[in-house]
Amino acid sequence: MAKPAHIAIIMDGNGRWAKARGLPRSAGHKAGVETLRKVVRNAGEFEIPWLTLYAFSSENWSRPHQEVNDLLGLLKLFIRRDLAELHRSGVRVRVIGERSSLASDIRALLEEAEALTRENRSMTLVIAFNYGGRDEITRAVGRIAELVAAGRVDAGAVTEELIASHLDTDGIPDPDLIIRTSGEQRLSNFLLWQAAYSEFIFLPCYWPDFSGADLKAAIDSYASRERRFGGVVASTVAS
Ligand code: IPE
Ligand code: IPE
Ligand code: MG
Repeated sequence: MAKPAHIAIIMDGNGRWAKARGLPRSAGHKAGVETLRKVVRNAGEFEIPWLTLYAFSSENWSRPHQEVNDLLGLLKLFIRRDLAELHRSGVRVRVIGERSSLASDIRALLEEAEALTRENRSMTLVIAFNYGGRDEITRAVGRIAELVAAGRVDAGAVTEELIASHLDTDGIPDPDLIIRTSGEQRLSNFLLWQAAYSEFIFLPCYWPDFSGADLKAAIDSYASRERRFGGVVASTVAS
C-alpha cells in the first residue's frame, strides 16, 4: 500500500519522560519541542504532504497554571524561532482549534504563521492548539444551526460534506495514520470526526524519545495494512 498522505501525531509523555529523569515537567515539554522540530523535518524528508501535531487540547487548561503558562510560552517560542525556517522550506502552517478565546498575542502569532506560509506547497503542518474534537463538532453544529434558522440551508440538506466543511479541518484530508506515543491507547478528544477510518499506531516511547526511525517504521507498518472502509477487498470476492 502507498505511503500515508496525512499523518497525525498525539505527542504524549513529556511529563513522564521528565519524571523518569528527576526533572520538572517543564523540562519534558522543552525536550518535546525539540522532537517536534526534528519530526517536522523528517516528515519533509519522507515526503509526507500533511502532518498534524496535537500540541494542546481543550482539556489541557485544567493543568496547573504554571504548566499551562509553560506550554503557551513554548508555542510562542516555537513560532517565533522556527517560522522563518518553515517558510523557507516551503511548509504551509494551518492551525486548528478554538481561537476566539485565546490571548490576543497568541492569536496574532498563529494568524501570522498562517498568513506568511499560505502559498507554500511542499508540506502542510497542521498544529492542533486549544483543540478538542467535541468542541470542534459543537462549533460546527452551531454554525450550521444558524444557517438553517436563517433559511439558508434546508435541514434535510445537512450532509456529511456540509458538516466536514464547517469543521476546522475544512480542506484538510482525513488522517490516514494516527500515532500516539507514551503507551496510552486513547484519542483524548483528537480528530473524532476525521479519524473514522484512520489506522492507529500506539508506541510505548515517550514523545521526547520519538525518532525519525520511529516515524519511518510507522510509515512502513502503515504500508502493510489493508484498509477496507467498510467494503471488501477485490481479491477476497468470490468470482
Ligand atoms: C504531552 O505530554 C504534552 C501535552 C499534553 C501538551 P504530557 O504533558 O501529557 O506528558 P504525560 O502524559 O503527563 O507524561
Ligand atoms: C493529549 O494528551 C493531548 C496532547 C498530546 C496535546 P493528554 O496527556 O492531555 O491526554 P490524557 O489526559 O492522558 O488523556
Ligand atoms: Mg499526557
